[in-house]
Amino acid sequence: MTPGITVSDFGELPDGRMVSLFTIQSASGIEMRVTNYGGIIVSLTAPDRNGVQEDVVLGFSHLDAYLTASPYFGSIIGRCGNRIGKAEFSLDGETYHLAANTGENHLHGGITGFDKVLWNALPFSSGDDLGLVFTYTSPDGEEGYPGTLSVTVTYVLSATNQLSITYEATTDKATPVNLTHHSYFNLAGPLSDSILDHELMIPADHFTPIDSEFIPTGQIQSVQGTPMDFRSPISIGLRIDAEDQQIINGLGYDHNFVLTEQGTHLKLAARVFERQSGRIMEVTTTEPGIQFYAGNFLDGTLMGKAGRPYAHRSGFCLETQHFPDSPNQPTFPSIILRPGDVYSTRTVYSFSTNSDSR
Ligand code: BGC
Repeated sequence: MTPGITVSDFGELPDGRMVSLFTIQSASGIEMRVTNYGGIIVSLTAPDRNGVQEDVVLGFSHLDAYLTASPYFGSIIGRCGNRIGKAEFSLDGETYHLAANTGENHLHGGITGFDKVLWNALPFSSGDDLGLVFTYTSPDGEEGYPGTLSVTVTYVLSATNQLSITYEATTDKATPVNLTHHSYFNLAGPLSDSILDHELMIPADHFTPIDSEFIPTGQIQSVQGTPMDFRSPISIGLRIDAEDQQIINGLGYDHNFVLTEQGTHLKLAARVFERQSGRIMEVTTTEPGIQFYAGNFLDGTLMGKAGRPYAHRSGFCLETQHFPDSPNQPTFPSIILRPGDVYSTRTVYSFSTNSDSR
């Protein structure tokens, strides 16, 4: 396939608006398909140790499934990733009530978060880099958030097997903002039913423990001696059902890790190795944290692209972010964006292989 970007129809929204599907073919052979509905990455290939390209993300073949049943597969998440407890927060002396969409809490931006809106999409190329610029204006009061938020999310696929996602936003009133990306990965390819044999490394000395509703307790706890210690590579499955209160609360891994190296430069946030294929994915980010979610809510009821149901823990998410529930946690780094400031973060997913299968 020649490198380039092509566009086709992906279907129609209930209100009649047409949805597009962009196919980006990179010079290195990686192919990514992205829709302007939710900025969703529908498929993304990566080469195995023999150069064989296979789809490494979960998703659906048709728009309808994304409209009705998607657990945020491949989407842009906003205004705030993860949960805000009791779906409310106070800012500058005012209390804001957000849409409650998981029990009495707020998850991933609410009922119609950024994963469920139609983005404006502009394809571009620059040298060997191919990409899409997504823009969306979130109106004042959307899902309960204050201020009109202008958001730009840029996807760039390079010829060196890297996917870069850059997020920018400005506002006309102070508002919390915490954008992320929600691809579910399985580096063993589309026929794999489990991610438990993937080896994961997260360079984090601490994580933010959660209560039984997945809301941070506000503590920043050491990973030392717990199943949350991923500082050396270890199989995801080894301790995922451990007798550990945090594992019990999260139904497995569903936790925010505090990266040991801090700062707004790109730094390593996670490295995943899948032994059978040899595929490696490295995540670098300007963000202070990363949510590792092991697909614990997948239960075999969603029919995937390859005509197979997505089994329990058949995909994992690595969501770079500020910490969940930040507006209610005074000890966490602030996610408040004020008029005149520019929200700007970047995350890069890099794919490579290891020829050694031992
Ligand atoms: C969260 C999970 C949630 C899932 C939704 C993840 O980012 O951490 O708790 O259930 O998204 O699919």
